[in-house]
Amino acid sequence: MTMTEKISVLLGLTLSVCWVASATPDLTKLPPAVKKDGVTYAKDIRPIFEGSCLRCHGGERPKAGLRLDSLDGVLKGSREGKVIIPGQSEKSQLVIAVARIDDETAMPPKQRPGGRRGGPGGPGGPGDPPPGGSRDGQPPAPKDGAPGQPPGGPRGGMGPPPKPLTAEQVGLIRAWVDQGAK
Ligand code: HEC
Repeated sequence: MTMTEKISVLLGLTLSVCWVASATPDLTKLPPAVKKDGVTYAKDIRPIFEGSCLRCHGGERPKAGLRLDSLDGVLKGSREGKVIIPGQSEKSQLVIAVARIDDETAMPPKQRPGGRRGGPGGPGGPGDPPPGGSRDGQPPAPKDGAPGQPPGGPRGGMGPPPKPLTAEQVGLIRAWVDQGAK
């Protein structure tokens, strides 16, 4: 290896380490709220969640204990607590998640080659996921182990990955939260 090669390898490593370490979301990157009055869950928001979220956040065992299939569920939040603060969209975890400005919390989850987000250990379990994300190697939590689904097997296996929201949709969710999340 020549000196130049060594330097570029080092530089590459440093860059990727920095990239991983910069986990704090940059709130200036949130798409602005759309200008629309009277935004409601039933009329405007549920259809968005239906397309991209309910596969994981509805029904019997919603991920993180968060149900998005009813207004009550959204307001109640997850096992960890509230995910929206009515009137304050920029402080609402759900808004930050769907804007996908931060890889760790992005929703729908980013597909990571070689590492599954919230793996077989049961996502949203006690404690934060370890830095780097993978929970592989931990015993599966019984409550999250789907019957008939091998622990550690590919998640879901049903259809294409859910669509990330567009800036327009994120803006609509912001408007909804800012107007009090009715
Ligand atoms: C492929 C499954 C999947 C889809 C689709 C999905 N989520 Fe999630 N979501 C999860 C998992 C798993 C967690 C648990 C936390 C983690 O992975 O770190 C989670 C956690 C969350 C949290 C954080 C809850 C907390 O307090 O920790 C929010 C908010 C959230 N999801 C919102 C959404 C929204 C809104 C959508 C649709 C745009 C969505 N999710 C789509 C799997 C999904």
